[in-house]
Amino acid sequence: MLPPSLEIAVYGLIVTPMLQLADKHGMLAELLAHGPLPSTDVAARIDADPDTVDRILLVLASAGLLHRDSAGAFAVDPAVAPYLDAAHPGYIGGFVKHMVDALEQLPRLERYLALGKRTVDADLPAPYDHFYQDDLSTAEFMSAMWSLSYDVSRELAELAALDGSKVLVDVGGASGPFSVAALEQNPRLRAIVFDLPNIRPHLESTRDKYGLTDRLEFAGGDFFADELPEGDVVAFGYVMSNWPDAECKQLLHKAFRACQPGGRVLVMERLFDDDRNGPLSTAVMNLTMQVETRGVHRTAAELVALLEDAGFTGCAVHRSGRDKHLVVGHRPAA
Ligand SMILES: C[S@@+](CC[C@H](N)C(=O)[O-])C[C@H]1O[C@@H](n2cnc3c(N)ncnc32)[C@H](O)[C@@H]1O
Repeated sequence: MLPPSLEIAVYGLIVTPMLQLADKHGMLAELLAHGPLPSTDVAARIDADPDTVDRILLVLASAGLLHRDSAGAFAVDPAVAPYLDAAHPGYIGGFVKHMVDALEQLPRLERYLALGKRTVDADLPAPYDHFYQDDLSTAEFMSAMWSLSYDVSRELAELAALDGSKVLVDVGGASGPFSVAALEQNPRLRAIVFDLPNIRPHLESTRDKYGLTDRLEFAGGDFFADELPEGDVVAFGYVMSNWPDAECKQLLHKAFRACQPGGRVLVMERLFDDDRNGPLSTAVMNLTMQVETRGVHRTAAELVALLEDAGFTGCAVHRSGRDKHLVVGHRPAA
């Protein structure tokens, strides 16, 4: 037996794709709906090879995601069930697929090591040209962002205390995970999602699904080329982590201009601990940012420094119980 940290490093590589495969082929759905079930029953229900199903489920059970009873029947561990249940707001299936897809890009790190990111990326499409190369990859990216952000946004919207706010501008708001959470909690709030024009149908589909026709609108544009719509709250969820400091400062200066005097900016991000020794999720996503975007993850103090550079004052950090947190800055009243 290897030391536990090495065991995870060596064998964990296989666990994530197996989790995604079990999700994609309905094994988890069958266990959630009908478990405990022996692997032969799961295989019969999804019309798949029983031996392969058994091996996949044994990996997930050994990793602690499933329980296997003395009769050999599998059940999803109750602690992880909400995250693996597609009907639950906490479902992370889209994000797990995004992580498995990201593995394909990791070999590029070898070339970064030899030549540097700037040289290698010069021949590659810009990050969002890659994510949005066709309708399927755009839809998959939207699904990943929704599953990464909607559930925690319900907590972040509470931490943001939006009850007195009127217009939320959700910059890079994608199909609306934060806007929807904020609107659900604040019936008098209106939200504008500002994102690239091709995101419009995804936001409109969310708007219709959640019955928010009169309170959620889309504004298409390029946040580097265009000014932002005005509001008393300007939000950025997982936007700062896509870009280097210079671009973040540019966006936050725009946000300052778009934010009404007395209003606020909300930056919602993973945070590194102050000593940068973790958490693991932030360190891993900081690495994937290297191949997927031009950004980094930061400490709370680094984000506060970016906000202050743009003129925001009274900055405060509000930590959620999850891995996306809130940094708030105020535009002083005129
Ligand atoms: C990582 S996603 C974050 C989505 C969402 N805010 C969340 O927290 O899950 C970044 C978003 O920024 C948008 N974006 C990227 N470049 C942009 C640009 N130049 N102008 C406007 N939006 C852009 C993307 O389309 C995407 O929806």
